[in-house]
Amino acid sequence: MDLKNKKVVLTGASGGIGQAMAAALVASGARLILVGRNSHKLETLAASLQGEHSFVAADLSTAQGRDILFDVCVANGPIDLLINNAGGSAFAMIEDQSEQAIVELIALNLSAPILLTRRLLPLLLSAKNGGIVNIGSAFGAIGYPGFSTYCATKFGLSGYTQALRRELADTGLQVFYLAPRATNTAINSHRVSALNSELGNAVDEPEVVAKALLKQLQKNQINCYVGWPEKFFARLNGLLPKLVDSSLSKQLSIIRRIAKSEKG
Ligand SMILES: NC(=O)c1ccc[n+]([C@@H]2O[C@H](COP(=O)([O-])OP(=O)(O)OC[C@H]3O[C@@H](n4cnc5c(N)ncnc54)[C@H](OP(=O)(O)O)[C@@H]3O)[C@@H](O)[C@H]2O)c1
Repeated sequence: MDLKNKKVVLTGASGGIGQAMAAALVASGARLILVGRNSHKLETLAASLQGEHSFVAADLSTAQGRDILFDVCVANGPIDLLINNAGGSAFAMIEDQSEQAIVELIALNLSAPILLTRRLLPLLLSAKNGGIVNIGSAFGAIGYPGFSTYCATKFGLSGYTQALRRELADTGLQVFYLAPRATNTAINSHRVSALNSELGNAVDEPEVVAKALLKQLQKNQINCYVGWPEKFFARLNGLLPKLVDSSLSKQLSIIRRIAKSEKG
């Protein structure tokens, strides 16, 4: 997909990965509608980018927030690309996750991209050769202790992406799935950073994910998993999950200790 003069709706634009994607998309000639809840952050971001870009402050986990974005998009005409990037995370053993926190994470990471895509679909279909990119995670292919609800949302998003791609196969609209591994942004709490450091997990800078997005779009690659060995583990988990069970069981005591530690 050539991004020159393409109109792109980017959710979670003010976050770590969102800001890096915004810069990369603008460098490729795209015009952006930046979405997040904090209008001040979005305004600052829009002003820092070359060219004219709009922004919309909206809570995408609510119907009202999605309505606000829909109205702005309708006023702007067809949309070439929707990037469902807004998301949250939770690192806690299941007994320490509140019912409300679980419901809210599912609403933001899974229900919101499904409902937003459904709402914006007529605008996406009216653009020629448009696309949708769902930002998943390595944890959308590997069930990881301490991240059960987060994994559920990203596995769900991965399945949704595959089904939607097949459903829209005769429309010209392409559906992509991009799965970053651990990335250095504010989504990760001190506990998650401590876990990555103790287990020696690689952590990418957000620019690595932005670069992967551009490459994926240029090559029309439907699925992209960022990083090695995460790419390999995602495949292994699909084929031989018992091997991954055994490797993760060796990490379980560390994961539980850090998940339950005082440091937030
Ligand atoms: N960083 C990682 O390690 C990592 C790894 C794999 C996958 N990912 C995925 O990458 C995506 C981006 O994550 P990130 O690391 O860039 O996180 P981040 O820095 O925390 O950014 C999250 C973004 O989502 C927006 N957002 C949060 N709640 C929202 C809501 N209810 N309505 C609208 N916007 C909302 C935030 O803006 P406001 O707070 O202003 O609303 C912010 O722009 C997520 O889908 C995440 O799951 C991240």
